[in-house]
Amino acid sequence: MLSEQAKSEIRALQARYPVPRSALGSALYVAQREIGWLPPPVLAEVAALFGLDATEVGEFASFYHMYNTHREPGQYHIEICDNVPCMLGGAARLGDLLQERLGIGFGETTPDGKFSLGHVECLGACATAPMFMCTEKATAKIRYFEELDTPEKLDEVLALIGAGQGFDTCERWPVGPGRHGGSPETNFLLARVDKPDSHRIETYIADGGYETAKAVTTGGKTPQQVSDEVKAANIRGRGGAGFPAGTKWGFLPAGKYPRYLVVNADESEPGTFKDRMIMEYDPHQLLEGMILACYAIGAERAFIYVRGEYYFAAERLAGAVVEAEAKGFLGENIFGSGKALKVVVHRGAGAYECGEETALLTSLEGYRGHPRLKPPFPAVEGLYAKPTIVNNVETIANVPHVLRRGADWYKQWGTPQSTGFRVFCLSGQVKQPGLYELPHGVTLRELIYTYGGGLTEEAGELKAVIPGGLSVQLLDPSQLDTPLDYENVAAQGSSLGSAAVIVIGANQSLVEIARRTLAFYREESCGKCTPCREGTPWLEAILERIEHGEGRVADIALLNYLADMIGGKSFCPFGYAAVWGLQSNLAKFRPEFDAAIAGATGLPVIPVRPTYRPDTGVPSGVTSPSLPLEEKFNAPTHRR
Ligand code: FES
Repeated sequence: MLSEQAKSEIRALQARYPVPRSALGSALYVAQREIGWLPPPVLAEVAALFGLDATEVGEFASFYHMYNTHREPGQYHIEICDNVPCMLGGAARLGDLLQERLGIGFGETTPDGKFSLGHVECLGACATAPMFMCTEKATAKIRYFEELDTPEKLDEVLALIGAGQGFDTCERWPVGPGRHGGSPETNFLLARVDKPDSHRIETYIADGGYETAKAVTTGGKTPQQVSDEVKAANIRGRGGAGFPAGTKWGFLPAGKYPRYLVVNADESEPGTFKDRMIMEYDPHQLLEGMILACYAIGAERAFIYVRGEYYFAAERLAGAVVEAEAKGFLGENIFGSGKALKVVVHRGAGAYECGEETALLTSLEGYRGHPRLKPPFPAVEGLYAKPTIVNNVETIANVPHVLRRGADWYKQWGTPQSTGFRVFCLSGQVKQPGLYELPHGVTLRELIYTYGGGLTEEAGELKAVIPGGLSVQLLDPSQLDTPLDYENVAAQGSSLGSAAVIVIGANQSLVEIARRTLAFYREESCGKCTPCREGTPWLEAILERIEHGEGRVADIALLNYLADMIGGKSFCPFGYAAVWGLQSNLAKFRPEFDAAIAGATGLPVIPVRPTYRPDTGVPSGVTSPSLPLEEKFNAPTHRR
C-alpha cells in the first residue's frame, strides 16, 4: 500500500493544477515508483485520493504505455526503439545482441529479476541509433543509452547499469548534446547547446538571456505589439501543421479569462528529435519564449506537456523553472512588472496521439488522450474549457529571437511564405545524421549530401526520403532538388511536417518500411475511431504477409482500398498520418511490392482495380483475410 509520504506527494501534485485531476498521471508515476507497478489495489488507492472510481483510473492507466498495469518489470527495464529511423540505424542487431547478453527474449525478465526487455516506439533519439531507454524501477528514473553500435559499447552500458551506477545521472549516454550543425549565420536555437552548463540560468543570462523578456514586460512593448511582431515574422508552427503562431494567438476571444499557454513538448513523430535538444540543453530559451508569449496573450499560467519518456528533459525544465522563480523571472511579479506567471512541467506517459493538440489537452486534464471535436478550437475552448494557445517547443523558442532582433531580421532568411530558419532532424542512412539549423528553402540534396555527408557505404544509392516525419508521403531521388519549405514540399506531394528527414538507401525493402510504419500506427491509434483502430492492424497484417512471401495478387488493391477508408475518415489527422506514407509508397514504388508478391505466388501480378460491391463495401476480387491475420487482429491491445 502507498506510504504516507507518497500520499502527501500526490496531494502536493494536485495543488499544482487548477483542477486536481490533472495530477492523475503524475500520481500514478509516484505509485509506480513506490510499488514497482500498478496492480488493481494500487489503482484503487490512487483513485481514492482523487475521489474517483478505481475503474476510471484503470481505464486511464491502461491507455498509456508507461504505466505497468499488467506485470512488474525487472529492476532495470530496457526498451529498445526499432521504429523506422532506428531500424535503419541497426536496431535489429542491437536487439539480437541484447537478447544474447541478457539471456532473455523480448517480454521476458531475467531469473534474478534484474533486467527485463521490451520494445518501444520512437524516442526522439533517431540520429544516435541504435539506442534503448532504461527505467530504474526503484527510483522511476529513465535514461537514454545511445549510439550503441558496437558490442563493446553495449557491454560497457550493461556493466554500468548492472553495477547500479547507470542512474547517477539521467543525462543521455554518451554524455553531452547529440550531433548537430548547420549554417553559422542561422545558428540561433542551438547556438548555445555545446557550452558548459548551457542549461543553467547563469549561462543563459551571461549570453543576454531574459533581457528581452524583462525589457518587453516592464514597458518596452504592449502585448499587442508583441503579437504583431510575431505575426509579422510569420513564425509558422514547428510541430507539423505549420500554422502561423501570431495568427493563432489572434483567435483568442476578447475579454475571456483565465486563459492558458500550453507548450506541446510531446515530440513523438518518428524521426523528430529537435525539441528534446532545446529542452535538455537550453531550457531557459524556451522559458523566455513562454514569458513573452504569455505576456502577449494575457496568460498567467502555462504548462509544458513533455512526453513521459523525456525524463531528462523534464528534469532540466523543472530545474530551469526553479532557477527562474528564484530570480523573480517567473512567479507573482515577474521582473517587477506586476505580471504573474506560473509554469508547470507536466509529464505525459507514452501516447503518440497526445501530440495532437486537443488530445494533449484532454490528457493534461487527466483523461485518456483522445482528440476532441473542432470547433470549438482550443483558442476559444481549450484546457478546462478556457481559451488556450497550444504551441510547439521550437515555435516558442523562436519568439525571443524575433522580439530581440525584429521581424524584418527574421524574415531575411527562408522564403517569403516559410520565413526564418528551421531545425532539421536528419536521420536514417546518412553518414552524419543529426540536427541542422538552416534557413527554410535549403534543398533536400544540400541537407543530405552537403550537411549529412551523403549516404553510408552500406546503404548504397538513395532510394527514398521521408521529408517531414514518418506521417508524410515519401519522395524519390528525382525530387532531391526540392527546397525544404512548406510550399515546395507540398508541391511535390508531401509535407514538411516536423522537418524530420529520414533517408532510405537502396539496400532497404520498402515493403518492410511500410510494414513497420503501419505497426507504429496500429500500436499508437488512440482507439477512438473505428477506421484507425480497426484498419491499421489489417494494413499491417497484409503488409506482413507480403513481406513474408505470402502475398496475394489482390493485396495491392486491398491495401489501397483500406487506406482510402482510413485517411480523412477519422476524428483527427491520425487517419491521414497512418496512410499517407503507405499510399505514396505504393504509388511511387509499386514494382517493389509487385515483385514481393510475384516472388511469393510465382505468377505475374495482375493489377486489380477496386470496384466496390454495394452490399459489403469490399472491393471485388479481394479474398477474406487468412486465419493468421485474424489471430493477429484479435490479439489483445491495451487501447481497445
Ligand atoms: Fe528510434 Fe526515433 S529514436 S526511431
